[in-house]
Amino acid sequence: MLSKENLMSEQYRIETLAIHAGQEPDPSTGAIMTPIYQTSTYVLPEVGQNRGYEYSRSDNPTRTALQANLAALEGAKYGLAFASGLAATDIVMRLMRPGDHIVVGDDVYGGTYRMFDKVLKHYGLNFSFVDLTDLDAFQQALRAETKLVWLETPTNPNLKLADIAALSELAHARQALVVVDNTFASSYLQNPLALGADLVLHSTTKYLGGHSDVVGGAVMLNDQAIYEQLKFLQNAIGSVPAPNARRARRSKAIDIASSPRSSLSGTGPERAFASRLMSVAPFGSVSPAAVAAIASD
Ligand SMILES: Cc1ncc(COP(=O)(O)O)c(C=O)c1O
Repeated sequence: MLSKENLMSEQYRIETLAIHAGQEPDPSTGAIMTPIYQTSTYVLPEVGQNRGYEYSRSDNPTRTALQANLAALEGAKYGLAFASGLAATDIVMRLMRPGDHIVVGDDVYGGTYRMFDKVLKHYGLNFSFVDLTDLDAFQQALRAETKLVWLETPTNPNLKLADIAALSELAHARQALVVVDNTFASSYLQNPLALGADLVLHSTTKYLGGHSDVVGGAVMLNDQAIYEQLKFLQNAIGSVPAPNARRARRSKAIDIASSPRSSLSGTGPERAFASRLMSVAPFGSVSPAAVAAIASD
C-alpha cells in the first residue's frame, strides 16, 4: 500500500501520484476509493466540536482528497480546488490590495484578461500587460508597487513560452509573488514551483480534468502563510467545486499524463509545441535554458 508518508518521501512518477496521492482508504468504511461525500453539512458530536468537517463550503472529505492529489502532481505542500479556473484566479487576486501593481503576460487566456481589465481594474488594481519572452521589457515594467507577476506559459492561444526561473528571480528581487498558470503544459510537462514560482494555477477543466465533463480550478503552493490566506478566502468567498468534481480527474488519471504526449500524433500548434517540449522535457520540468531556446525559435 502506498501510504501518505511513502508518497511524500519517495519519488513516484506522475501516473502513480495521479491515482494514489491523497487517496487514503475511507476512515468510516475502509472503502478503497474516496467516496463522493454528497453532503452539505455534518452532525457535530457536541456544540463546538467536529470530526474535521462542519460544512462543505469550508471542507469536504472528497475535496480534501482531490486537493492532496493535485498538490502531489505539482510537488507542492498544499492544494486548493475551486469551482473553475477563473474562480481560482479570482481568489489569488484577492491577495492584492488597492494600489497594487501586477505584471501580466500579454497573451494570457482571454477570460483572465477580461477579469483583470474589465473587473479588477475597477477595484484599484493596476495591470501592465507585457511580452514576457522579453526580459528587458519585463524589468522595465516592474514598479515599486509591483506585488504580483502573472505568467501563463505556454499561453492560450499562441503558446508563447516564458522563462519561469529567470522571471521568478527578477520578480523576487522586487518582493513580487510569481503565479504560473500551468493549464496548458499540465503538471506532467512542467512543475513551476520547482523553477522558482510561488503559486501554480490550473484550469482543471482542461488536461487535469481529462474528460471535458467537469469545470474546475486549482492552486498549488508551498508557502504556509499564503496557503492559509487562500484557504480563508476559499471559504469566505465560497467558489468551491461540488464534491463530485473529483470523479473525472481520478478515473482518467493516465490521460493527465498522456494527453500532451498523444497530441504528438495530432496536427496544429499543440502538436508543434508538444513535440518541442517533449524533446527537451520528456519526464518533468523544463530547464530555463531549454525554455529560452524554444522561446527564441
Ligand atoms: C490557460 C487558461 N487559464 C484559465 C482558464 C480559465 O479556466 P475555466 O474555464 O476553468 O474557468 C482557461 C480556460 O480556457 C485557460 O485556457
